[in-house]
Amino acid sequence: MAGVVKLEPVDERNLEPLLSVAVAEAEPDDVMPPVDAPAGWSHARREAFRVYYRTGFAGFEGPARTRMYAILVGGEVLGMIRMTRCPAPGTVETGLWLGRSARGQGVGVAALRELLNLAAAAGMRTVVAYTTRENVGAVSVLCGCGAVLAENGDTVRAEISLDAIPPAR
Ligand SMILES: CC(C)(COP(=O)(O)OP(=O)(O)OC[C@H]1O[C@@H](n2cnc3c(N)ncnc32)[C@H](O)[C@@H]1OP(=O)(O)O)[C@@H](O)C(=O)NCCC(=O)NCCS
Repeated sequence: MAGVVKLEPVDERNLEPLLSVAVAEAEPDDVMPPVDAPAGWSHARREAFRVYYRTGFAGFEGPARTRMYAILVGGEVLGMIRMTRCPAPGTVETGLWLGRSARGQGVGVAALRELLNLAAAAGMRTVVAYTTRENVGAVSVLCGCGAVLAENGDTVRAEISLDAIPPAR
């Protein structure tokens, strides 16, 4: 990996760089919820991307109950990682994505480790994630951060106990 992975809350300054990475190097389905818009990175889908990520600006107190972070290496925005409050106390759900050219270099694992530190600092005890068995990259990243997996059909539920993770230095 070329440098240290940093997480910065998604805001108006990094929103357009984040959208540029998504448009150039990711599929809409990997980076935002489905919307009723023409296929691909149409104008409507780009606008929906902005609207979706702005729902995270208010963090846990906002309607999405989500903190979203741009993933940066060497000051360059490469992707996004989020944590969303779950009904269970002390529990958040995470999800992340990177532009294609940033994948396979350890950035995903490093970003998730940073997210776990932020979750612990926010008083969380458990981080969960949902993916599919076919998503070998996501499963590897989660296992690399100590996740316990439970399979239900094609769905994989990953659970990371923050009590088992040494405190951040
Ligand atoms: C999933 C994703 C974030 C992984 O991030 P990444 O930076 O590529 O992963 P890393 O380089 O940190 O790799 C961590 C481990 O996974 C393995 N891995 C990563 N991608 C892989 C792939 N496509 N196939 C097989 N193994 C893979 C790496 O070899 C590494 O294994 P190791 O710890 O034994 O060395 C990235 O592939 C991505 O953005 N995918 C599209 C969006 C997505 O699916 N998000 C997950 C939703 S839960």
